[in-house]
Amino acid sequence: MHACGKKGRCTTCKMIVLQGMENLSPETGPELAYRQQGRLRTDERLSCQSVLLQGELLIRVAKINQFPHIAYTE
Ligand code: FES
Repeated sequence: MHACGKKGRCTTCKMIVLQGMENLSPETGPELAYRQQGRLRTDERLSCQSVLLQGELLIRVAKINQFPHIAYTE
């Protein structure tokens, strides 16, 4: 989900990074703020704030952020 329109204000786009964290762009201000507040774990990034710079990325979407009409694989 991208409830805030990709402005880094909602965390509904949160992704749990299983592999490839090193391939993402540096954390943005909103991500650092959420991390300081304990709302973003070290294995999580906001998809609206991060860019895949190289290689591959394997993620999981937390149940709370999943759409009911989409089938997610684990
Ligand atoms: S879409 Fe709201 S924080 Fe990413």
